[in-house]
Amino acid sequence: MGKDPKTLRSARWFAPDDLRSFGHRSRLMQLGYAEEEFRDKPVIGILNTWSELNSCHGHFRERAFDVKRGVAQAGGFAVELPSLSVDESFTKPTSMLYRNMLAMETEETIRSHPLDGVVLMGGCDKTTPGLVMGAISAGVPMIYLPAGPMLRGHYAGRILGSGSDAWKYWDERRAGNITDDEWLGLQGGIARSAGTCMTMGTASTMTAIADAMGLTLPGASSIPAVDSGHQRMSSACGRRIVEMVNEELTPDRIITPGSCRNAAIVAMATGCSTNAVVHLIAMARRAGVPMTLDELDALGRTTPLIANVRPSGKDYLMEDFFYAGGLRALMKQMEDRLDISCLTVTGRTLGENLQGAEVFNDDVIRPLSNPVYHEGSLAVLRGNLCPQGAVMKPAACDPRFHVHEGPALVFDSYPEMKQAVEDETLDITPDHVMVLRNAGPLGGPGFPEWGMLPIPKALIRQGHRDMLRISDARMSGTSYGACVLHVAPESFVGGPLALLRTGDTIRLDLPNRRLDMLVDEAEIAARRAVWQPPEPRFERGWGYMFSRHVTQADEGCDFDFLQSDFGRTAGEPDI
Ligand code: FES
Ligand code: MG
Repeated sequence: MGKDPKTLRSARWFAPDDLRSFGHRSRLMQLGYAEEEFRDKPVIGILNTWSELNSCHGHFRERAFDVKRGVAQAGGFAVELPSLSVDESFTKPTSMLYRNMLAMETEETIRSHPLDGVVLMGGCDKTTPGLVMGAISAGVPMIYLPAGPMLRGHYAGRILGSGSDAWKYWDERRAGNITDDEWLGLQGGIARSAGTCMTMGTASTMTAIADAMGLTLPGASSIPAVDSGHQRMSSACGRRIVEMVNEELTPDRIITPGSCRNAAIVAMATGCSTNAVVHLIAMARRAGVPMTLDELDALGRTTPLIANVRPSGKDYLMEDFFYAGGLRALMKQMEDRLDISCLTVTGRTLGENLQGAEVFNDDVIRPLSNPVYHEGSLAVLRGNLCPQGAVMKPAACDPRFHVHEGPALVFDSYPEMKQAVEDETLDITPDHVMVLRNAGPLGGPGFPEWGMLPIPKALIRQGHRDMLRISDARMSGTSYGACVLHVAPESFVGGPLALLRTGDTIRLDLPNRRLDMLVDEAEIAARRAVWQPPEPRFERGWGYMFSRHVTQADEGCDFDFLQSDFGRTAGEPDI
């Protein structure tokens, strides 16, 4: 029981008996399709972020065929469209410089083509927010197909977690505890199948957010990339998107204040990446939901962390999380806290999707009465160093740093910091607070993941593995430690971090959510009076456009002109 084909968006390309439509139809025939294969059928775009430099999406070529199979079964016509891959592993200076490029590309690809609905294939960190942000603005029915986590890492009888164990063993190598052979073994064992990082890094966080928001098939985010269930989920996405077109189930009906709040609660309960803050705010605002840092902090204070998945959890990885019941089981566990009336891509409510979900291992997915950590994953700080906020991950750091006072050691650039941490004679104590600035959205440039500043070798050799670190950078979702991130406004635009000097005392008071430099007002004002803005990073190209339009971390780093309240969106092309 489909929609009247004449009312399909794609009919404006293919239906009229005019010269232009003749051209469109003839070009599909050039591709080898007969009229009956596409005529009067919903056209589904499969936006595929596959690339040979995106190791996390290595299975996406084949999965696109699974989606196509599903689309055809349901009576649709599928076309695969390559999308900017925004891989986390290879992109310099940082993939975050290109999230908004993917969002723009997605929006305009959909708008300019004869598409009635889209399947968004992503997973590696920025691809989820990039695809979703663009598709929200384009407004056609969409379903998100998450890449799924890779298998657990493995080497010499040890289970390895993406990112987290790379940082951990790198410190051991710097301490002289790991041989070349062992290092090579770790290199080959830490990423051993297609799929996204299998810790609760940014990829697993963002796909869980998409799932909790109702944008994926229920529980799809937990299915390992190479499980045959992932193929079945892919063809099911293809079938479902055709129905969604017929039902006119557009993203604005799914992404609401309730579903955004659900996504934030679930993120907090999973031990989410700090990057969730930036992306969730950006996604919500695209849908006209004005999510704020304060709202996220309030949810963080009241949501226990119940997914025992590294790095915030102690023991397990995403594969274990899947076997324990996956995200549906986690959501079932905390159903009372969620708005289960929210509509999802299934056409049913979240509550209906959760029926029958069960936890199979309550050490991996804990009951609310026995959480991994009593509060949620993230805390938002404010103070004279971060008037527009900063973010921290309390469960992933040594609790002795939750309240801490110490002298600042300030670095103006990453190379300067990198050189200092390798200097074994560096004059530093475990009470020092290492600070990196000029690493924010404009300063980095692009807001790189430099925020887990390496512990100086001088301290590593003494056995220290954590210390308080502050930056206006982000950090990888697989990172851990006493790292304060996303200081806003960033130093590059004259935020107070720019005025800090080595030797100033810094005070962190996590229970009271404060971060301050203990420098008096008059002195701060005097420093501000002589502060000179740095030279702009870019004078042309994408970076120039990025620098002119990117918003600060607390606003989600979307471009000002892409936000939903910026102005009227162009209507459908009427030629
Ligand atoms: Fe792709 Fe981690 S590098 S998800
Ligand atoms: Mg990452």
